[in-house]
Amino acid sequence: MQFESLPGFRDFYPETCAQRNHIFDHWRKVAQAFNFLEYDAPVLEPLELYIEKSGKEIVGQLFNFEDRGGRTVALRPEMTPSLARLVGAKGNSLKRPIKWFNIGENYRYERPQKGRLRAFYQLNADIFGESGPAADAELISMLTQLLLSLGLDSSDFMLRLSDRDLWLLILAAEGLDESSSASVLAIIDKLDRTERKKTVDKLACVMGDSAENFLGRIEDVINIRDFDTLSNYILNLPLEEGLEEKAKVRVDDWKQLLRLIESAGAGEFIQIDLGIVRGLAYYTGFVFEAFEVNGEDRALAGGGRYDSLVKKLGGPDMPAVGFAMGDVTVANLLKTKSLIPKQINRPDFIAITGGTAERNVALSDVTQLRSLGFQVEYPLKDQGFGKQFKDANQSGARFALIYGSEEIERGVVKVRDLQSGQEGEIIRKNILQLAPELLLKGI
Ligand code: HAM
Repeated sequence: MQFESLPGFRDFYPETCAQRNHIFDHWRKVAQAFNFLEYDAPVLEPLELYIEKSGKEIVGQLFNFEDRGGRTVALRPEMTPSLARLVGAKGNSLKRPIKWFNIGENYRYERPQKGRLRAFYQLNADIFGESGPAADAELISMLTQLLLSLGLDSSDFMLRLSDRDLWLLILAAEGLDESSSASVLAIIDKLDRTERKKTVDKLACVMGDSAENFLGRIEDVINIRDFDTLSNYILNLPLEEGLEEKAKVRVDDWKQLLRLIESAGAGEFIQIDLGIVRGLAYYTGFVFEAFEVNGEDRALAGGGRYDSLVKKLGGPDMPAVGFAMGDVTVANLLKTKSLIPKQINRPDFIAITGGTAERNVALSDVTQLRSLGFQVEYPLKDQGFGKQFKDANQSGARFALIYGSEEIERGVVKVRDLQSGQEGEIIRKNILQLAPELLLKGI
């Protein structure tokens, strides 16, 4: 019987693994360019960590079970609660702003489909300890840089920007308290996946008979695309005094955020879209998602502010904002745009040996070259020269190092440039000094 991997899980053969690593390399490089520090956390966590904190949708998708010690545990569906736990545990001893990133696998029991699997990687990037819009702008700028660095541009992706604080003001003007507003936001989150009639029925629980008109007003807000219209709308909401002041402050936050995003060169990617509210329960302020311009696929990335999660998990009161980018949708988009370079595994050197004795001699050189970091292929058994040269040519190696008995006697090794076919000889004891130059200049 032949086993297959579970639905929604992937095998990574070397070629796909190289494609995956291509994405990881860019993720890591950009995160480091923004001076984020890498951290890691367990993939298995107490189930409790996700209940309430992540929200119903994710809890319904958990891979959870009881371990042999009777603990209820879950494979992590996302990194954010673990991260908030880590940061909270060190509390105020960490130097702020805390800017951390991780690349790791997450598990959600979703129906596998295009762009959605049950095991997927995410880059998570988060900032703790900074409540102003500069932190949100830093992350939005980083998200843009990540997609640009992979070769994508404004014809491929855009970032939708929204704000749960604005929604709370808008819904307060409708007479809703925080708890009813949270229910409405959960409905707005599913708006484009739900029939209009069903949405009206759901809203009726909060708005009764006026649900239809209410939905119309929500749709008007969601259709706003420019900041002037949005700020006019917010500043003219019928709010009581305290909230009116809040609205003014929030509009100023927006101005500051948009100015920073503009200065960071990410302005052209931003689209104001209050239809984005994010399904996870912990978001508190600005929220954003990156989308493929013409795509039906799931979002490329998503995130936002979550100022109360660290405290909820027992840590200090600490503002937080972050996002995660998934590897599945990004890889799909890169493939459609032919932006994943074919990864050619090219050894620097391949040893070709006359027989067992010569193979032994070669091994000492090969070991030294490898210890200096050169990529070297070494034959694991004796084979005829003809077969070895054929394999060497197919391997894509840059140079063949040829160890015949006659060369070994003279203390030399024959070097063949496998691109040009040119050959030369080098003194064996000089091989380590000569190797870098050889690779740089050829024979
Ligand atoms: P999320 O929107 O659930 O946010 O996931 C972020 C990204 O992970 C998505 O945009 C998508 O690319 C990818 N993703 C999510 N689920 C799947 C899946 N089943 N298959 C393939 N890819 C998937 C979060 O996870 C938040 N914790 C992000 C965050 C970090 N917020 C603050 N900091």
